Amino acid sequence: MLFDFIYYNPTKIYFGKNSLSYLKEELKKYGKKVLLAYGFSSIKKIGLYSEVIQILEDSGKEVFDFPGIMPNPTYKKMMEGAKIVKDNDIDLILAVGGGSVIDCAKAISVSAYSKDDPWNKYWIGRKEVDNKIVPVASILTLAATGSEANGGSVITNEELKKKKGRVFSPEVYPKFSILNPLYTYSLPLYQTMSGIFDIFSHFMEQYFSGEDDNVSDYLLEGAMRSLIHSTEAIMVNSEDYEARSNIMWLSTIALNTMLGVSKPQDWEVHAIGHQISAYTLCAHGMSLSSISPSYYLYTYKYGLEKFKRFAINVFNIQEEGKSSDEIAREGIETLKDYIKKYNMVSSIKELGVNEEMIPLIAKSTDKGGAYKTLTEEDIINILRDSYN
Ligand code: NZQ
Ligand code: ZN
Repeated sequence: MLFDFIYYNPTKIYFGKNSLSYLKEELKKYGKKVLLAYGFSSIKKIGLYSEVIQILEDSGKEVFDFPGIMPNPTYKKMMEGAKIVKDNDIDLILAVGGGSVIDCAKAISVSAYSKDDPWNKYWIGRKEVDNKIVPVASILTLAATGSEANGGSVITNEELKKKKGRVFSPEVYPKFSILNPLYTYSLPLYQTMSGIFDIFSHFMEQYFSGEDDNVSDYLLEGAMRSLIHSTEAIMVNSEDYEARSNIMWLSTIALNTMLGVSKPQDWEVHAIGHQISAYTLCAHGMSLSSISPSYYLYTYKYGLEKFKRFAINVFNIQEEGKSSDEIAREGIETLKDYIKKYNMVSSIKELGVNEEMIPLIAKSTDKGGAYKTLTEEDIINILRDSYN
């Protein structure tokens, strides 16, 4: 049975090679002052920075440059941006980059006018935003998080060693997002693959939950098959436009919240992955690839039929002569092979986790899980399995 739900996604998407040409028209809807938020060097290297600056100047905007948003954006960096926004009465935050830049822009948007400490109020306290929200828009350069069309904002509090996501209401979603697959050609293979596994994980976190006949599960199977197909295509040719565009759109579809609204979801792999990143600052997608097989091998028995279905429908595992348990395990083993074949990280050791960190990561992880609610001990077991 489908849950009752309200679905509303206000982000307007401009997709394709020509998508930047719509920026000028969109900018007319906002005031003069624009905070241009971005990371380090990538958007300058691909010439996107100068193109965007030109469009902003042609549109008569006053640009406030905000560079240096790091992967796994920190609370401190976000608060720097919030101060600029408040002090200068910024009208629009334009995020140009990957999920970290867009997440940071949303965090700045809700924090700039918050009278209380935003970390405690919004990320820990999960309160509704009751202060002014500054509009955010994005130009995406990395297919991964879905941040370009959702209210998610994941921030790392370095002092507390806690990385925490928060999903804000539709007022905080990007007003528009520009998605040009050509921008992703310059990504190092490591970042491309990290992004792809993040997308894969978003599908699995929504798929491995519930047992009803739910339309989302069929859509998720198709989406996962498409992602596997396109992963192979870009290994053969990293400038395969068809594959790059499929991957970019899959990143949006995976987390624009449409697929998950009608069913229970998991997200425990993300909870553990976030704490691995909090301790090592590793790439988000790789934190997920390093633990997913261990997590699923640890929990599959509690949702056996779904894991069997995944093996057959996503990885084409043959059923004849095998028990449900064997089929389900073969599916997870094939996921492991996929991770290895495409140079994704398969061990937390490779990400910089050491023996001493394991209990700290387990203790600080938010406990949950769809088919099994994990305890601290369960998380230690999963981390050790991925460590060895
Ligand atoms: O800083 P620059 O020079 O721009 O380099 C970036 C960065 O080092 C580089 N990059 C981006 N586009 C590029 C490029 N390099 C070459 N060519 C390009 N076109 O890639 C590096 C990583 O960027 P980042 O934004 O950190 O990657 P990603 O998009 O994977 O974002 C990860 C962050 O998003 C959060 C993650 O936890 C993590 O903090 N997530 C956000 C979600 C949401 N809002 O819904 C959900 C996700 O599950 C995730 O948690
Ligand atoms: Zn993710």
